[in-house]
Amino acid sequence: MKIIQATFIQSNTDYKACPAPEKPEYAFIGRSNVGKSSLINMLTGHPNLAKTSQKPGKTQLINHFLINDEWYLVDLPGYGWAQASKADREKWDTMIRQYLLQRTNLLCVFVLIDSRHEAQKVDLEFMEWLGKSEIPFSIIFTKADKQTKSKTQLHVEQYIQKMLEQWEEVPSYFVTSSVSRDGRDEILKFIDSLNKT
Ligand code: GTP
Ligand code: MG
Repeated sequence: MKIIQATFIQSNTDYKACPAPEKPEYAFIGRSNVGKSSLINMLTGHPNLAKTSQKPGKTQLINHFLINDEWYLVDLPGYGWAQASKADREKWDTMIRQYLLQRTNLLCVFVLIDSRHEAQKVDLEFMEWLGKSEIPFSIIFTKADKQTKSKTQLHVEQYIQKMLEQWEEVPSYFVTSSVSRDGRDEILKFIDSLNKT
């Protein structure tokens, strides 16, 4: 699929204020700093579309981007940021869980995991919640350029193994780098196939 147009539409705290749920939608979630906003920029080929930062906690709202006038990509604030206050966490919980539960046009949530790290409790718990809530999701391993291919492969296999201790099957997954653009074609193809369902 070619991305001809990628336009920022709006930022919201409340899912009810988001654009009318009339087009297929895909959201990006994961720990703060895992590379959600960078991945949106990489996928769309617009390096400054979503705001990124070296410091965690950059994305704070539900951000809608309209692609080719046909479907939405949504950048979300991250979880698991050690410096976040209890109030911040509660705000995130209300805003994001409501959005994920109530957004009727959400075809898939991409859960981003840093390919350099072992499985973290916060990610496993979040995916468990998605599963229990019957929200469809896929996994994206990020920052693969930061290590050798074999190391990435090892981490991915360990992660899948860990998930299989908890789940009967694992969702589809992708290995990506926003620097080398690895994984771009696979993710766009996956989105394209869901758009057609
Ligand atoms: P929050 O909005 O704070 O939750 O973070 P985020 O998940 O949106 O992360 P963001 O895209 O802002 O990226 C965080 C940092 O990681 C930035 O310094 C990016 O340049 C860097 N980064 C993201 N993806 C990659 C990648 O694939 N490779 C490398 N080398 N760096 C990356
Ligand atoms: Mg971000």
